[in-house]
Amino acid sequence: MSAYRSAGTRAVLLVTAGILLTQCSTPPPAAEVVSPAEAAIAPLVSIRELMTYIIDPASDGVFDAVGADVTDAGVVETFPETDDDWAEVQRGALTMAEGMNLLRLPRRVAPADDNVAKNPGELPPAEVEAKIAASPELWASHIDRLQQEAMKVLDIVKARQGDQLFDAGSAIDAACEACHLDFWYPGDREAVERFNNSTTTFDPPAP
Ligand code: HEC
Repeated sequence: MSAYRSAGTRAVLLVTAGILLTQCSTPPPAAEVVSPAEAAIAPLVSIRELMTYIIDPASDGVFDAVGADVTDAGVVETFPETDDDWAEVQRGALTMAEGMNLLRLPRRVAPADDNVAKNPGELPPAEVEAKIAASPELWASHIDRLQQEAMKVLDIVKARQGDQLFDAGSAIDAACEACHLDFWYPGDREAVERFNNSTTTFDPPAP
C-alpha cells in the first residue's frame, strides 16, 4: 500500500514537472537576463534637471540653516536647534555630496525639448557639453571640490557646530560658482571676481 502510494506520488510529481516543463518551454531570450555585474547605470535626466531638482534644493538645506538679521536690537543670528533642523542640514549636505557622483556619469546637459541657453551670458548646452568633453579632469576636480565641502558639513552636523555653517555655506557657494564659471557662464568671470573682491563699508550717521 505504501509502495503504491509512493509510486502514485511520484506519478503526480512527474505530471506536475511535465506541466512546469511545458510552461517553461519558451524561456525569455538570454539578453534579458542581466547579472548585477553587467547592469550598466544609464543616465535618465540632464545636468540642468539634476541642478534644478536635486543639487540646488539640497544646497538650500545648508544655506537656509543659518541666518543673520539686522534688527533694532542688533544683528540676530539664527542656527539649527532641533534634531529635525539638523536632519535637514544633513539631508542637504549628503544629497549634494552623493548627488555630485551623478555628474561623473556622462549625460546630456539640457533636456531635448529645452536644449538652448536660457539667459544671456550662458553657453548653449552643446558648448557646455564640448567643454566637459575637452576638460574631463577639470570637470572632475569641481565635482571633488563640492563633495569635499559637503562632507565637511556632515562633520559639523555631528558636532552640532552651528556657527561653522556660515563659512561652510560660503565654501559650498564658491564651489558651485567655480564650476559654473568654467563650464556654464565663463564670460562672467571678471564681473564675479570684481564682486567677490569688493568690500562694503558702513559709516553710521554722526550723532
Ligand atoms: C561640476 C560642475 C558643477 C557644479 C559643482 C555645480 N554645477 Fe550647477 N550647473 C552646472 C552646469 C554645467 C550647468 C548648466 C546646465 C544648463 O545648461 O542649464 C549648471 C546649472 C545650474 C543651475 C541652473 C539650472 C537651470 O534650470 O537652468 C542651477 C540653479 C545650479 N546649477 C545650481 C548649482 C548649485 C546650487 C551648485 C552648488 C551646490 C551647483 N550648481 C554646482 C555645473 C555644476
